Amino acid sequence: MSVEIEQAYTRAGDLIQLVGLSHKSFIFTLIDGGEFHTHRGVIKHDDLIGKPWGIQIFSHNGSPFFLLQPSLPDILKSTKRATQIMYPKEIGYILIQLGVKPGTRIIEAGTGSGSFTTALSYAIGDSGRIYSYEAKESNQKIAIRSLEKLGLTGNIEFKVRDIREGFDEIGVDAVFLDVANPYDYLKQVKMALKPGGFFASILPTMNQVTSLLTALRRNDFAFIDVCDISQRYYKTEPSRFRPTDRMIAHTGYLIFARSVTIDHDLADPKLLKEIGVLGIEDEKSTEMDELIVVDEATEE
Ligand SMILES: C[S@@+](CC[C@H](N)C(=O)[O-])C[C@H]1O[C@@H](n2cnc3c(N)ncnc32)[C@H](O)[C@@H]1O
Repeated sequence: MSVEIEQAYTRAGDLIQLVGLSHKSFIFTLIDGGEFHTHRGVIKHDDLIGKPWGIQIFSHNGSPFFLLQPSLPDILKSTKRATQIMYPKEIGYILIQLGVKPGTRIIEAGTGSGSFTTALSYAIGDSGRIYSYEAKESNQKIAIRSLEKLGLTGNIEFKVRDIREGFDEIGVDAVFLDVANPYDYLKQVKMALKPGGFFASILPTMNQVTSLLTALRRNDFAFIDVCDISQRYYKTEPSRFRPTDRMIAHTGYLIFARSVTIDHDLADPKLLKEIGVLGIEDEKSTEMDELIVVDEATEE
């Protein structure tokens, strides 16, 4: 089974996409002698094998389809859902911000439906490693099945565990948490990350973000960024070019940080403030301490 298709013609074992009327899309693997059944008719796999990509084909009752290599976003869209999944607009930016590249060692939790895992597996290649933790075995099983269909499990270690119990790995390059309460697991994250390593999380509500910001500061994570990503689509009719009528208004907030090692007795408070490790609340307590010292001096 293969998703990296460089040849000009389809072969048995290739992952293919058929796109029919109303953008209805089907992704499956070509098997010698196989048959694909849809309400728009039956297509014999043998009639699709050895064909050039991009051509139009027809089912037994004449329904038209285009024969394509599925793109990664197409594959993610078709991921079987056990949970809320992540979308390409967030996944792409997170991969860049976390510095994910061939050879990266990364922890993620939870596996969920495996949509982020799929993109990660593509990005890190054979030399990288994903350690994918999930508390609910039933969710992870669905994700594993999806990844197996894509032939993408070779660089992934799946673990059924509540991450409250910590991670097995140390010195990983990055940790990504897609769980409701990432702020409860930063000690565990810190233990697993290499010094200076990358952390990211995605959260749907602002309340969760502020809890995470507070916890990141308390656990010596610095260079913190929060953003969200809006994506607007346009109607691709040249004579009436304009935005599409509907838009997804909100998916989640993205939070990024680096794990740093700080000797709080020696560190320059100005620098700590600049990198986000000290905040307004620390300033207030310093001012209060100064006031108390002044008062004591006056009393004497
Ligand atoms: C939103 S889903 C993750 C979706 C996934 N990123 C994807 O792209 O398909 C959140 C998952 O985290 C799991 N989870 C929540 N808390 C957890 C914990 N403490 N330890 C491990 N997994 C956890 C849930 O069971 C759920 O499957």
